[in-house]
Amino acid sequence: MNYKEIRTQFLKFFEEKNHKIFPSAPMVVKDDPTLMFTNAGMNQFKEFFLGNSVSKNKRIADTQKCLPVSGKHNDLEEVGKDTYHHTMFEMLGNWSFGDYFKKEAIAWAWELLTDRLKIVKDSLYVSVFEGSKDADKLVMDKEAYSLWSAIVPEERIILGNKKDNFWEMGDQGPCGPCSEIHVDIRPAEEKAKIPGASLVNQDHPLVVEIWNLVFIQYNRKADGKLEPLPEKHVDTGMGFERLCMVLQNVQSNYDTDVFTPIILEIETITNSKYGVKEDTDIAIRVIADHIRAVAFSIADGQLPSNTGAGYVIRRILRRAI
Ligand code: GLY
Repeated sequence: MNYKEIRTQFLKFFEEKNHKIFPSAPMVVKDDPTLMFTNAGMNQFKEFFLGNSVSKNKRIADTQKCLPVSGKHNDLEEVGKDTYHHTMFEMLGNWSFGDYFKKEAIAWAWELLTDRLKIVKDSLYVSVFEGSKDADKLVMDKEAYSLWSAIVPEERIILGNKKDNFWEMGDQGPCGPCSEIHVDIRPAEEKAKIPGASLVNQDHPLVVEIWNLVFIQYNRKADGKLEPLPEKHVDTGMGFERLCMVLQNVQSNYDTDVFTPIILEIETITNSKYGVKEDTDIAIRVIADHIRAVAFSIADGQLPSNTGAGYVIRRILRRAI
């Protein structure tokens, strides 16, 4: 499948499950003082989660342009060095606003990945929040564990800490425990030597998170306290470029058709070759990634400048140069 077909498959699947398909919000955020750029698909729905306004549709799915380079989810310095982080990426997501919760979110994610998209079940690992002993005193997500254990063997279910399995939009805002889905695309002989479970969340380029299912049930207040929300919601985010890597059977996001046309153009303009020398490869990946982020930011209304959000774009541009 090419990247357009993959995107369509995702949206079609959730349309069949009675989701309204929404357009991506702009990547540049102008009306939320807690954010400069969209850092997750759920940003445009924040007010629905908090109960400040009511969505006409209780189920929504979309693909959202994200730029998580400022604030909590900041990956800028990693980009280009490895093969699976980006400044700008697309996040495929499905949402329930006070409608379905963990049972359906988990069952549908599994159905889409394994039944519809035919990802081999044995290559998938899932994680569940183990609880926390800090000031928030959160309990283990036993409900998610029991739902997963009905479909995934227990050796492929991993308990995760707050850093990996409690998702927060930022210092304030909607949040909750999450279950991540990781895929192991290593060759069979490597899989036989080292079990994939031990490589989940260990920065292995071929054992990567592809989808995060967040069960939103709290609001993190400005004073740092968690306040339970009146209704429970689902907020999922799947890395589109990583999904393309898996489905196109390559081992780098940059080898998918999302990036190969850009890389080809960079090779032509700079008279260099991708895939020969590591330093050059990193440089080409940085340029390929950053040019996309800068172009989409400008198109969405943010020019590079020397303050605020504009300065973030200028830093990305500078890093590419
Ligand atoms: N909001 C879910 C995620 O970004 O992972």
